[in-house]
Amino acid sequence: MTSICLAILLALALAFSPASTARPSQANSSYKNGGIDANDFVYADNLRLYDGVGVHYITGLNYWACMNLAADDSVGGNYSRLVTELDQMAAKGVNHLRVMASSEGASTPQPFRMNPPLMPAPGQYNEEIFVGLDTCLAEMEKRGMRATMTLNNEWQWSGGFGQYVSWANHDAEIPYPPSWNLSAPPQRSNPSTGWGNYTVIGVDAAPWSNYTDFANRFYTDTQAQAWYRDHIDAVVNRVNSVNGRKYNEDATIMAWQLANEPQAAIVPEEFLGPYGLELPPAPEDPLIPWVRETSEYIKSLAPKQLVSVGFEGKQGKWYWQAVHNFSTIDYGTSHCWVQNWGIYDMLNSSISNIEKAKIFARDFVANTSDWAVEIGKPIFLEEFGMARNNWENEGKEYQYLSSASTSNKDGYFQTIIGAAVAMFKDPQAAYVGTCPWAYGGVYRPETQQADQFGIVWAGDPPHESPGWYDLYDTDETMNIIYRQQQEIEAFLDKEQGE
Ligand SMILES: *[C@@H]1O[C@H](CO)[C@@H](O)[C@H](O)[C@H]1NC(C)=O
Ligand SMILES: *[C@@H]1O[C@H](CO)[C@@H](O)[C@H](O)[C@H]1NC(C)=O
Ligand SMILES: *[C@@H]1O[C@H](CO)[C@@H](O)[C@H](O)[C@H]1NC(C)=O
Ligand SMILES: *[C@@H]1O[C@H](CO)[C@@H](O)[C@H](O)[C@H]1NC(C)=O
Ligand SMILES: *[C@@H]1O[C@H](CO)[C@@H](O)[C@H](O)[C@H]1NC(C)=O
Ligand SMILES: *[C@@H]1O[C@H](CO)[C@@H](O)[C@H](O)[C@H]1NC(C)=O
Ligand SMILES: *[C@@H]1O[C@H](CO)[C@@H](O)[C@H](O)[C@H]1NC(C)=O
Ligand SMILES: *[C@@H]1O[C@H](CO)[C@@H](O)[C@H](O)[C@H]1NC(C)=O
Repeated sequence: MTSICLAILLALALAFSPASTARPSQANSSYKNGGIDANDFVYADNLRLYDGVGVHYITGLNYWACMNLAADDSVGGNYSRLVTELDQMAAKGVNHLRVMASSEGASTPQPFRMNPPLMPAPGQYNEEIFVGLDTCLAEMEKRGMRATMTLNNEWQWSGGFGQYVSWANHDAEIPYPPSWNLSAPPQRSNPSTGWGNYTVIGVDAAPWSNYTDFANRFYTDTQAQAWYRDHIDAVVNRVNSVNGRKYNEDATIMAWQLANEPQAAIVPEEFLGPYGLELPPAPEDPLIPWVRETSEYIKSLAPKQLVSVGFEGKQGKWYWQAVHNFSTIDYGTSHCWVQNWGIYDMLNSSISNIEKAKIFARDFVANTSDWAVEIGKPIFLEEFGMARNNWENEGKEYQYLSSASTSNKDGYFQTIIGAAVAMFKDPQAAYVGTCPWAYGGVYRPETQQADQFGIVWAGDPPHESPGWYDLYDTDETMNIIYRQQQEIEAFLDKEQGE
């Protein structure tokens, strides 16, 4: 998911999804929701999603690292952590995870990204990581959780567009924007336990626009597109080595997603709108035909499953509708990032700071719902997050310590989840679920230890400060997610009983 924030930035995010009504099949009665019948595909009709039981609401979470956590210990996995965390999420009513189904490596070691990668070089797979993805899906199925499978990434934390462009251009150097360097000063006395710092523009980082200009060459690079399609083919047609289900015949996979946060390729000097986030219409933007052609390709390979873009919505109504108004895109997505977009300051304890963030989130959810209604599709809030009360960490050894309280975050989650739930209950509005960023589970910065691949698997991806947006197993946010699921279940039971 995500990237960082600095004033105008283009940043971030990923996330996931759903929870729903009682599941029909009970593969393992130890799990609240039972299993997912291979043929119980979720489908979209006008403003709602449906499954075999009826209307389908997504109580989701971003759990992007699932394939790595589920892989063998020898490649950095941790099966016991995986099942612990899946059980924790299932116990909170989570019925959907947004996961990576891609990550790209390079011929020379690259910083700031998931490691080991699924695809170390074009067309070459690390089978142990692929088995991790199989395991992730098989374990999700048992717990009644469906997946959004993210096939690429605008941002550097999984390789993504930048790596494809580099591969296609003689391993050209990627101009990385400011990213978390876990081995930069200050360091704790035990090696590889943090803290680190962000790289700095002009010192060891490029400006953001250099990075996005480089990454967005992806849309029109013929060789990069050919490799990307080969990857889509390989994942969509894979047979799960754990449960024997073919990926494109498995209803556990709700949706294929083109990429995490694909950005507009035509960026003006000045952005529009009251928050300076919006872009003017640009029908000639190569992003738009890329969405159409790629979604047609995925649909041709996986006609029973849904396809989504992974778009944030900060670009405004014109862009949002331009990338979603294709028959091969089944539902819209939105990502809401108040700190990254300059609306919220995690070091500011004033009431007006958090109130501004809540107002923005409510308006953003209402606006994006309207845009979706106009094109007759559901919309899924598949990424949002907020830091802890990190002003409490000022002057401490690390700004993202888990000891900071979470009153702002909890209030914000209630507000934004509440807005999406209200727009699900309202038949004239289009929201069908939420998916916060991101489940860190048992991870804590205080006890972190980088593994043999230099990675700490926090909820925050490796280009961002670990602990920034993490949701921990003991956090109140998990109860907010649970109450959402309970409220929706009661609502749907009532509707369906009438
Ligand atoms: C059902 O799930 C429980 C809890 O994880 C596990 O211990 C048990 O082995 C599972 N049973 C089957 C038949 O898969
Ligand atoms: C795996 O995760 C568990 C927590 O679920 C932790 O106690 C254990 O140390 C981890 N193992 C490794 C090798 O990191
Ligand atoms: C991270 O910081 C270390 C220590 O300062 C430095 O040696 C290394 O080059 C930095 N890595 C990147 C990718 O900037
Ligand atoms: C991190 O880097 C920034 C920019 O170079 C610097 O201002 C800040 O003091 C550093 N933080 C720590 C904790 O060293
Ligand atoms: C960023 O792009 C500008 C304009 O193309 C270029 O002059 C500059 O060298 C680039 N900086 C880095 C660090 O790549
Ligand atoms: C969406 O596409 C339909 C069918 O092509 C078209 O009639 C409609 O005007 C489009 N809506 C927008 C907002 O572009
Ligand atoms: C805190 O946020 C409020 C609301 O945006 C702002 O008016 C105030 O100046 C901020 N305070 C500081 C110290 O930045
Ligand atoms: C919502 O839309 C209104 C009307 O276009 C606009 O004034 C407002 O800034 C938008 N707010 C957000 C957060 O998108």
